[in-house]
Amino acid sequence: MKTIIEPFRIKTTEPIKIISRDERIKALEQAHNNVFLIDAEDCCIDLLTDSGTGAMSTQQWAAMMLGDESYAGSRSWKHFEHTVREITGIKHILPTHQGRAAEAILAQTLIKKGDIIPNNSHFDTTRANIEYVGGVAMNLLCAEGTDTTLDAPFKGDMDIDKLKACIQTHGVEKIPFCMVTVTNNTGGGQPVSLANIRAIKSVLEPHGIPLIIDACRFAENAYFIHEREKGYKGKALTQIAKEMFSYADGATMSCKKDGLANIGGFLICNNDQWAEKFRNLLIIREGFPTYGGLAGRDLEAIAVGLKEALEYDYQVYRQATVRYLSSRLEEAGVPIVKPGGGHAVFLDAKRMLPHIDPLQYPGIGVVNALYVEGGVRGVELGSVMFGSFDESGEELPSPLELVRLAFPRRVYTQSHFDYLIEVIKEVWKNKDSISGYKITYQTQFLRHFTCHFEPV
Ligand code: F0G
Repeated sequence: MKTIIEPFRIKTTEPIKIISRDERIKALEQAHNNVFLIDAEDCCIDLLTDSGTGAMSTQQWAAMMLGDESYAGSRSWKHFEHTVREITGIKHILPTHQGRAAEAILAQTLIKKGDIIPNNSHFDTTRANIEYVGGVAMNLLCAEGTDTTLDAPFKGDMDIDKLKACIQTHGVEKIPFCMVTVTNNTGGGQPVSLANIRAIKSVLEPHGIPLIIDACRFAENAYFIHEREKGYKGKALTQIAKEMFSYADGATMSCKKDGLANIGGFLICNNDQWAEKFRNLLIIREGFPTYGGLAGRDLEAIAVGLKEALEYDYQVYRQATVRYLSSRLEEAGVPIVKPGGGHAVFLDAKRMLPHIDPLQYPGIGVVNALYVEGGVRGVELGSVMFGSFDESGEELPSPLELVRLAFPRRVYTQSHFDYLIEVIKEVWKNKDSISGYKITYQTQFLRHFTCHFEPV
């Protein structure tokens, strides 16, 4: 088999600034050792997120010129609505400026204080939106999903027995809806099988509990189903996506991921009463229901991007990149979450730095070492992002200490990845010299974005 090449050529370039190691050390100090506070220009390979950081295609740029900026009922809205409905088959479609706006509207209209929202794993903004209105965000990931060393096809699946137990324990009236996140970002970008989505639905349906898909990476999930689930080889990704959404009563979406756009999102549902409530809040928060906080040109770029994300050759190339990096790191003995995820490779900081206590944040140790070594920016998904506090205020660690290297879509080439591999190997070689950190400043919600660290 020949090398899987990038299925595009480069038409516009953006320079990368490469600063010296000393300058990076200084930049990190000035950012209170939190890479979220570093200037993007001072990052040579920026793998902080795959969200809104992708490159658009010529088709998307061309579509942007067709953007109809009418306040109400624009042609671009029609294009967007038609595309989302074609892919999902869902009745009511509300555009939002990004995924968390959809989550906020969902949470604020449907959740009462004390309600329980099950999910395979909640993303941080989803959890924050649920907790903000007094709900409880519950993770019911399958046991396989928490074993970072296990290579299994669908480690994003929900534990069906735990879901049944959750309904039994808390009662149907406490569960306004259940969610499933495809792919499971916080658990290593692992996919969810259609068999699992079907099983979730069959547990919920007799109780009348609706299912909401967190669909940010629905196209990557569809690709994994195509590759790994029996009976889906040869089916179009569009067809697989449609089946996924056929089990859902609604979905939240960040088009900054599998919309291949730099901004945008949506909230969709089949229930007419919900739609009315959502629309009322949408108008106050985001904008008129035919633009929802987006420009007409954004709606156009998303409409084209959603379809490009479902192109098979694009997904083949994207996953080849993930495999290229993960197999080289495994060869070098670097502990990673197996298998590589849809949008990222996750380093296992707990196994990389066993000498650092989870509450001294080994993930931050690895993230900061990657930055100093090569200007690579990753993100901690561990006790800083997901840690919690018990009733007495005692900090509890997260079960996993991961560092995510997320891949912007269609941005970096193979030589960028070769450089990245060199940087990670160097950090791995010098792992014993990496220290833990303590937090010296933090906020109540989503502390990881702005908190300050000091080495211990
Ligand atoms: N759900 C999941 C699974 C996500 O990964 C994200 C965003 C959101 C919801 C919220 O979407 O950013 O458009 O408001 N994830 C980004 C990330 C930020 O880096 O993983 P948003």
